[in-house]
Amino acid sequence: MQSEARALMKELREDHRNMSIVLELLDDVVEHASSGKDPDFELLDEIMRYMTVYPDAVHHPKEDIMYAQLRDKRPDLAEGLDSVPDDHNEIAAMGSALRDEIEAINAGAAVRRQKLIEDASGYVNRLRSHMAWEERDLFKRIDTMLDDESQEFDVAKFEHIKDPVFELEIEAGFRRLLASLKRAGQPAG
Ligand SMILES: [Fe+2]
Ligand SMILES: [Fe+2]
Repeated sequence: MQSEARALMKELREDHRNMSIVLELLDDVVEHASSGKDPDFELLDEIMRYMTVYPDAVHHPKEDIMYAQLRDKRPDLAEGLDSVPDDHNEIAAMGSALRDEIEAINAGAAVRRQKLIEDASGYVNRLRSHMAWEERDLFKRIDTMLDDESQEFDVAKFEHIKDPVFELEIEAGFRRLLASLKRAGQPAG
């Protein structure tokens, strides 16, 4: 049981590494757009689609289950955890608003470049600081809980869902994202 829970924590940390790589890419696109050039909107679209189908739909719910167990089994380590589901919801809302904006641009709508830049960089900053908090504080609390052998940890609720960019060999929907990651020397796909 403990080793499965540890495997899950490894998965969450791996997700963060992958999300950081994609956020780095998003940052590059934003920087490119800030310098007055036209960003690669199809790449932006794939990035935001990835963020909504994996981090929002798989990673955050996995964490929510972990944190619920932490709250349940170790209330002494649960300070501040109440705000996490709201954080996740807020990040998901920012992500889907940004994705909608990019889809609208791709469909021919005129969206101000400055608004897109602001929304994208706001999203990158918000998610980065959330992940940094988890890594420096929340994940360590879970490690502490798992170090205590007397704690039973229920991982039955978890189902491993593959990351569509970093784990699947063939993924037609993320071609540009995969190509950009390969150019950047990242071992995706
Ligand atoms: Fe999270
Ligand atoms: Fe996370």
